[in-house]
Amino acid sequence: MTVMTVMTIPVITIDGPSASGKGTVAARVAERLGFHYLDSGALYRAAAVASIHAGIDPQDEPRLVERVRSLQLRCAGERVLMDGEDVSAAIRTEEAGVRSSQVAAVPGVRAALLDLQRGFLQAPGLVADGRDMGTVVFPQARLKVFLTASALIRAQRRHKQLIEKGFSANLDALLRDLQERDERDRSRAVAPLAAAPGAREIDSSTLTIVQVVDQILRWYAQA
Ligand code: DC
Repeated sequence: MTVMTVMTIPVITIDGPSASGKGTVAARVAERLGFHYLDSGALYRAAAVASIHAGIDPQDEPRLVERVRSLQLRCAGERVLMDGEDVSAAIRTEEAGVRSSQVAAVPGVRAALLDLQRGFLQAPGLVADGRDMGTVVFPQARLKVFLTASALIRAQRRHKQLIEKGFSANLDALLRDLQERDERDRSRAVAPLAAAPGAREIDSSTLTIVQVVDQILRWYAQA
């Protein structure tokens, strides 16, 4: 495909803080439109699991970047394969979540994952969720959404999710981790979490998933 063709494939970006509901909303919007879906956080989480497995300190940029560059990452629906190993469950633990925010602050890691993310752009369209989808990875997106929710609501949602998946979880600890993670994601020097210029902002604290999905589809129809 030529650069022009790639640039004309429609993209919807959904950025926002941890546990704002981006993943569920983005996957449903993609399904409704018949578009592909990129969960960019899963790639950072896989990089985090790789660094934990290899005992690499997130501060050790050269070793970390070398490892991330050599990773064979594949997403197949909800499954994530890393060097052929299914890490779908391993990337969802709190440990992987905390580490992913640390490795995501390393500029070389972000650069190493850029082409992989852009490779998800295929016809008929893409819905991409993360922190910098609208600002850095797909600045040409037709619709950019910034999805937020209060920290307490997000901690409660994450708590429910973890319990449902059979993990143990503590609400106070989750809230603290979430606030620390938000702070690190917002204040890092490279590609910090921020609404892209022109992004539509939506606070999902008091909305259902269906309401958020419908609002995004209305915006897309007008875009
Ligand atoms: O969305 P998530 O919680 O699965 O993301 C895990 C971490 O990855 C998050 O703390 C920040 C980082 N991340 C990022 O820096 N840029 C993205 N586009 C997606 C995730």
